[in-house]
Amino acid sequence: MDSTQEEAKRLYRNRELVNGTIIWAKEQSLGKGRHGRKWYSPKGKGIWFTYAFKTSLRGKELNLLNLAAALGVVDALEDLGLKAFLKWPNDVILSDKKVCGVLLEALFEGDNLAFCLLGIGLNLKDIDEVPGSTSLERELGGSLSEDFVFKKLVDSVVNSIGLVEKEKEVVLSRYRNLCLTLGKEVSFKRNGTLLKGKAIELSSDGGLIVDVNGRIEVLYAELVEDVR
Ligand code: BTN
Repeated sequence: MDSTQEEAKRLYRNRELVNGTIIWAKEQSLGKGRHGRKWYSPKGKGIWFTYAFKTSLRGKELNLLNLAAALGVVDALEDLGLKAFLKWPNDVILSDKKVCGVLLEALFEGDNLAFCLLGIGLNLKDIDEVPGSTSLERELGGSLSEDFVFKKLVDSVVNSIGLVEKEKEVVLSRYRNLCLTLGKEVSFKRNGTLLKGKAIELSSDGGLIVDVNGRIEVLYAELVEDVR
């Protein structure tokens, strides 16, 4: 299909989207990454899926879902014998290279949050178009069944998302321990200006607290809002 995120939106518009739906594509012709980037999703090279769910979280706290999803991926990789780390907000890193990305979009019905669409793209094999990335097979030095990895990933991610509403602190402290961004220099754009600072902490709603020459800025992952 074009993109599992777009398929979820089509189901939603047709009033066919059910809480807990998972859409799994073997291949995407128009896979979407964060910041409007293309996400390469060739057949047989990765796990590309969207999990559509409802949440009682609102506003900036929705960012915690990004962190929890990334932690779920880390858990699944740990079961496969791999030690993954995180780049804020939700890149999953093996051997200093990205192996998995997470895209969270929110669907609104007027002012009300209807669904969250959590898109996960995990490279099983190397993607030639994305030279700086890595894959599970490269890191493990062997091949894996798509079905096996998909099931493991879904279980871990759904479980981790389920913890956010009641166990925010657990999510935050686990994330902190695995986050490669904390303590590092980061650059970001604010009102069109490029700023540089040091990432010092996570905020209680999953933002990144950055010290820009003594002034504190809190960054949030963009949440694409789709208004019907
Ligand atoms: C990122 O930029 O790191 C996020 C990548 C998210 C890719 C996944 S693949 C399944 C789902 N469908 C899409 O079109 N994108 C997400």
